[in-house]
Amino acid sequence: MKEKINQVMAQVEAFQSRAAGEIEEFRVRMLGKKGVVTGLMEEFRAAAPEVKRELGQRLNELKNKAMERVNELKAAAGGSGVQVEETEDMTRPGEGTAEATGSRHPISLVRNRIVDIFERMGYTVADGPEIEDDRHVFTALNFAPEHPARDMQDTFFVEKDPDVLLRTHTSSIQVRVMETTEPPIRVICPGRVFRNEAISYRAHCIFHQVEGLYVDEGVSFADLKQTLLHFAREMFGPETKIRLRPSYFPFTEPSGEVDVSCNLCGGKGCPVCKGTGWLEVMGCGMVDPNVLKECGIDPERYSGFAFGMGVERIAMLRYGVGDLRLYFENDVRFLHQFDAAI
Ligand code: PHE
Repeated sequence: MKEKINQVMAQVEAFQSRAAGEIEEFRVRMLGKKGVVTGLMEEFRAAAPEVKRELGQRLNELKNKAMERVNELKAAAGGSGVQVEETEDMTRPGEGTAEATGSRHPISLVRNRIVDIFERMGYTVADGPEIEDDRHVFTALNFAPEHPARDMQDTFFVEKDPDVLLRTHTSSIQVRVMETTEPPIRVICPGRVFRNEAISYRAHCIFHQVEGLYVDEGVSFADLKQTLLHFAREMFGPETKIRLRPSYFPFTEPSGEVDVSCNLCGGKGCPVCKGTGWLEVMGCGMVDPNVLKECGIDPERYSGFAFGMGVERIAMLRYGVGDLRLYFENDVRFLHQFDAAI
């Protein structure tokens, strides 16, 4: 029996494994109910009294050794029962196969920011179709039948007679809102628009707009000016000034172009503002009474203002990226420059 114990002891000492499954198997084989060590214990009971002392001591040593070995090996294998192959070096550095993370497109970043600023002033976002009819893009907005913007040169037509076309501005959404909503109305309309322009660094046939509309009793030009000043300060910084120049749009009267003081040179004049100290950012005006009437709103009772800006233009000024085409090419070397932008 003594010899048997020594044999098993040698086995226990020689056992090596880093696989949790194997170690557990070994524990059961040695110390389990029907295990080798347990079997020896039974055998020991029947041993002659004169050898019991020595055998007992040796047997205990074997049992402790086996338990110790199992615990040691389990700890080395991670203790959690995870299968670890002996050949795997868990301390080796990773191979850099982690998924590359994406980032928001600069146009989305700027659009979201514009939308945020107006949402905080109580505006809600309205949406509408990109493929429109003549009424919502032109007629209801007081465009005369022979207005040049209706021309093939500017507008992409899907069908002629009746006209189906790609919207050239998101004012079409404002018409849809006015047709279906009782004032007070306070909406902003972000979206893609389409114009048949030759593509260059400063023009593209697809671009993005955010337009706004406020219709209620007693809405004045002063309200418009204050709203735009607040927007400009939130967008370009608290020192920003605005200036309005007279302009013309068929759907607003009076109409204006809005300039903001150049945030790069602080108004002193630089290449971006072409030495003038001012940057043109949007069109605006008081909604023409004809437009209100056309959309079923009483112009005697209600008045309103509207404004519209190009998202690419604002992005150009905010990020100093002067070539519009970069926003559409989706070159990741360009896009990754906005990973941390807000
Ligand atoms: N719809 C005009 C454009 O696309 C912008 C605008 C909106 C101007 C509202 C005045 C009022 O250029």
